[in-house]
Amino acid sequence: MWVMRQAGRYLPEYHEAKGNHDFFECCRSPEIASTLTLQPIDRFAGLVDGAIIFSDILVIPQAMGMEVVMVDKKGPHFPDPLMTPEDKQYKEVMEREVNVKESLDYVYKAITMTRQKLDGRVPLFGFCGAPWTLLSYMVEGGGSKMFKQVKTWVFKYPEESKALLQKIAEVCVEYLAEQVIAGAQIIQVFDSWAGELSPSCFKEFSLPYLTYIAEHLPPRLKELKQEVVPMVVFAKGAWYALDDLCDTPYNVIGLDWLHDPAQAYAIAQKKGKVLQGNADPGVLYGSRDSIKKVVKEMVDGFGGGKQGWIANLGHGKSDDTTDSSTGLANSIQASHPL
Ligand code: CP3
Repeated sequence: MWVMRQAGRYLPEYHEAKGNHDFFECCRSPEIASTLTLQPIDRFAGLVDGAIIFSDILVIPQAMGMEVVMVDKKGPHFPDPLMTPEDKQYKEVMEREVNVKESLDYVYKAITMTRQKLDGRVPLFGFCGAPWTLLSYMVEGGGSKMFKQVKTWVFKYPEESKALLQKIAEVCVEYLAEQVIAGAQIIQVFDSWAGELSPSCFKEFSLPYLTYIAEHLPPRLKELKQEVVPMVVFAKGAWYALDDLCDTPYNVIGLDWLHDPAQAYAIAQKKGKVLQGNADPGVLYGSRDSIKKVVKEMVDGFGGGKQGWIANLGHGKSDDTTDSSTGLANSIQASHPL
């Protein structure tokens, strides 16, 4: 089990180590990023089985030349988002030779340092944002309710949108490859806004680019004389696309809590995929008994046993559910003692 705390900041030691540093300053400091990555591993020693590097999906738009700031208690903000394909920034982003090896060097340093400090305790995840989700941020300028800008882009400027999605996908492959060189042992692609697309739009504007990443990362790793690592895809809200996602080369399909674990397993098992998920993060507001019930349903649904599934929440946890996270980990251990 591993728990993303991206929306969380739930550990008091997180705030202590972060101090007065701004969020992206923490990402850019390998020392701080590594400390923040290890905090839940130390606190929940023996209960969590994976670490995810402290960083953010929005470092790719930054590497592509866009400014992104993290506004306290509000989330990410692009002061100057992409407006239309006529916008001179679109041309600049499209024409820019993105060198992630250089510009995101701090992420690789944090990964290498963290691998050393983990010393084999648990595997380390690297990650990136999916092209569709990153495009959404780049044109919306931050989180959104209506996704008006990105819908304008895909429906009014589909070709220009696809050109940018392809460019982002290529950057993702290179970025993930560098993370593996630095020491990431498994990678995850987060398509947090997949559920904003209709099934046919998902097939057109997200799936091809998720697939591109999964088809191109393994050969790129081989070319770089690296071991091929397992790949996880998490397309939040895209329950309708489970079959299609199982046909991609991703090894693990992350599920949010809108899936019935047993139904998802019936589809994924036929295609040899591992499932990761999918407890409703909201259950952590409940009692130990309610947590146990959800965990049991999930683990039994995934086929039980001790292999072939990764217990996780169906999305990041919020910052006010600390104690019950230990409850979640304990429940998994109780139903499946090692
Ligand atoms: O959980 C971890 O610490 C692992 C590292 C991680 C972060 N972000 C750190 C973070 C990971 C894997 C992410 C991914 C990420 N970032 C996603 C995909 C996952 C998802 O949530 O769907 C997205 C969409 C982002 C963009 C982003 N970053 C948002 C929307 C926010 C604000 C969240 C909120 O509710 O306030 C962030 C901030 C962020 N990223 C924090 C952390 C620890 C909180 C920063 C803080 O204020 O201290």
